[in-house]
Amino acid sequence: MKRTIIILLFVSLFVTFVLSQIPDNDPELCQQRIQREDCPQTPVPWGTFNDNDEIEVYYMQAPVFEAVFGNFFGKLGGYHSAIGFYDLTTGLNYTAEYDAFFEVGNGTLPNIINVDGKDELLWCNAGILCTVPYINETYWDKNIYSTASKTYMGTINGTQLNQYIEWMQQYNISNPVYQTWDVWNNYGQDLFVPSTTCDDFTQQSIEHLGSIGINYNCSTVFKRDYINLFTEKPQPIDFTEHYDDIFKFYEAVLEIKEGSIAQIIERILSIIGLKKYIYVQGEYYLLELNYPFMNAKYDYITLPGCPANGIDYENGNFIHLN
Ligand SMILES: *[C@@H]1O[C@H](CO)[C@@H](O)[C@H](O)[C@H]1NC(C)=O
Ligand SMILES: *[C@@H]1O[C@H](CO)[C@@H](O)[C@H](O)[C@H]1NC(C)=O
Ligand SMILES: *[C@@H]1O[C@H](CO)[C@@H](O)[C@H](O)[C@H]1NC(C)=O
Ligand SMILES: *[C@@H]1O[C@H](CO)[C@@H](O)[C@H](O)[C@H]1NC(C)=O
Ligand SMILES: *[C@@H]1O[C@H](CO)[C@@H](O)[C@H](O)[C@H]1NC(C)=O
Ligand SMILES: *[C@@H]1O[C@H](CO)[C@@H](O)[C@H](O)[C@H]1NC(C)=O
Repeated sequence: MKRTIIILLFVSLFVTFVLSQIPDNDPELCQQRIQREDCPQTPVPWGTFNDNDEIEVYYMQAPVFEAVFGNFFGKLGGYHSAIGFYDLTTGLNYTAEYDAFFEVGNGTLPNIINVDGKDELLWCNAGILCTVPYINETYWDKNIYSTASKTYMGTINGTQLNQYIEWMQQYNISNPVYQTWDVWNNYGQDLFVPSTTCDDFTQQSIEHLGSIGINYNCSTVFKRDYINLFTEKPQPIDFTEHYDDIFKFYEAVLEIKEGSIAQIIERILSIIGLKKYIYVQGEYYLLELNYPFMNAKYDYITLPGCPANGIDYENGNFIHLN
């Protein structure tokens, strides 16, 4: 009797140990290698704008450098994006953007770390709103980086900017996790998991500004990047049961620790024999990839109030995972 209890106790301790995943974005274990000037940990508040201020809104894009994305993406048009505000009344400028706090590599793949002799997966995939009370004219300048651009989107007043600030702070709270992939059954139609990247933030910013009264010129070219994964419906799985396969998968993908998204895509595709997984909101899902498995696209977004010419998240066929 006693013996059974001890064995049961041992088994349950073991199970608890295996089950207890390390918390995501553990502040001790996740370390930013480079602290970005334009993403201060303690953001400078923009203050409150006078209702009558006249403010120009810009959609800003800059090339994501080779160091981050490699040639593959450069050729396709890999951009970082942000929203810029020029307050013509005060002469002050502002930038709002969203990014992976520990950079896109960590936003896309976990780290394998050893805890008490056992391998564990550590995710440092926090996403964060970055707001600075200036526009970095060097980074977003097409005279310096030929593919950078600032596209004038429209003019708002101070009341509208104050409303936008509330919205962006809410966005920051609702989107604490960066998600690189748009997970589709097929592109532009059946979406299982929407991405949460800089482009999602800028797109939703433009949509929100539309809903609070900005008028867009429908001739304005508005495009963004999509990093796509194609699969049958991802199946939620039990982490403990799939522990070995999940590790085999990430070990294979992480084999070369540093790499671009393009290299990550290539590596995932090359490990044909292994089961493939994705991590979404703290849960692992098993994937059954569909042709063309993965790709990246630079595609149109429909402007609010304009005829549809891009992916329509609102009216598209969004399939919930649970
Ligand atoms: C990614 O996360 C690991 C683990 O915390 C950390 O060592 C590394 O510095 C992070 N990379 C960046 C670019 O922040
Ligand atoms: C700001 O713009 C909105 C939307 O066009 C308008 O309803 C509001 O009256 C404007 N406020 C001021 C102070 O001009
Ligand atoms: C804001 O941007 C404008 C246009 O580039 C520039 O002329 C102005 O000096 C900037 N204001 C500040 C305070 O940097
Ligand atoms: C502005 O952008 C340049 C080029 O990317 C960068 O070197 C610099 O640190 C940035 N400055 C600020 C204040 O963010
Ligand atoms: C965004 O949220 C983080 C907490 O996740 C907080 O530290 C940061 O100050 C917020 N940024 C802004 C601009 O509100
Ligand atoms: C809209 O944009 C087009 C193309 O840039 C431009 O030719 C046209 O003048 C703009 N219309 C308005 C009302 O600003």
